[in-house]
Amino acid sequence: METLKPEISVVNRNGLQYIKKQGKLIQYNPWLGNHFGFIYDTMMKHEVFPKTFGGSIEKHYSILNRLLSDVHQQHVLELATGTGSVIQFLANDNQYTGVDVSPDLLKRAGKRLRSSGFTETKLYIVSADDLPFQDQQFDLCLCILALNFFTTAEAVIKEVKRVLIPTGSFICCVPIPERNRLNKMINGTLYPEKELRRLCQNYNLSMQSYPDENGPLLYFKAENHA
Ligand SMILES: C[S@@+](CC[C@H](N)C(=O)[O-])C[C@H]1O[C@@H](n2cnc3c(N)ncnc32)[C@H](O)[C@@H]1O
Repeated sequence: METLKPEISVVNRNGLQYIKKQGKLIQYNPWLGNHFGFIYDTMMKHEVFPKTFGGSIEKHYSILNRLLSDVHQQHVLELATGTGSVIQFLANDNQYTGVDVSPDLLKRAGKRLRSSGFTETKLYIVSADDLPFQDQQFDLCLCILALNFFTTAEAVIKEVKRVLIPTGSFICCVPIPERNRLNKMINGTLYPEKELRRLCQNYNLSMQSYPDENGPLLYFKAENHA
């Protein structure tokens, strides 16, 4: 499993790892969806994907399945795990580490991991821009439908660079403004593809977009270089 920075200790509460720095418990404001965990997946399928995105969750799932089905025996870090919808596309021979600021959502991800037969997993209540892990711990980092919600994407990409092994990769799915053809209000900060490419380049991550189109969503992979 991952190694934590020396100044960090953890407290396990209901299967979730809470962080202590210098003995002080670090708390976060949960994301707005935290208390709607029980309807989150239904809302994504019937409201957000068709009505806000003008896309389809079935297509989203089939893209994720294609991108992740060959991933085996890797140490995977997912940023903003939420209820863990990605878990269904990952083989359970991977080590899975998830982080999120919303405990209610993360507890659902824990149930998913157990029912999918994962044996090596940890779920942390931490912010994606301040990861508690030491450098170069993960083969693959995932961030699905969440980069727009972070305070700054750059701080998160910097952390991705730090925790990936030198040959690791980052797979991301994020709404971008130039594909928001329905002109709907999409929460968070939307970064144009060009800006995401620039941010990745700044950290020596070479970004390649996948050709898939699904409403405003861009699917891309960024490979690490030492
Ligand atoms: C739209 S949901 C996506 C959840 C999941 N990745 C999926 O594909 O269903 C956005 C997630 O971002 C999380 N989040 C928001 N700000 C965060 C932060 N600073 N660090 C970690 N997670 C955060 C929320 O708690 C929520 O689970």
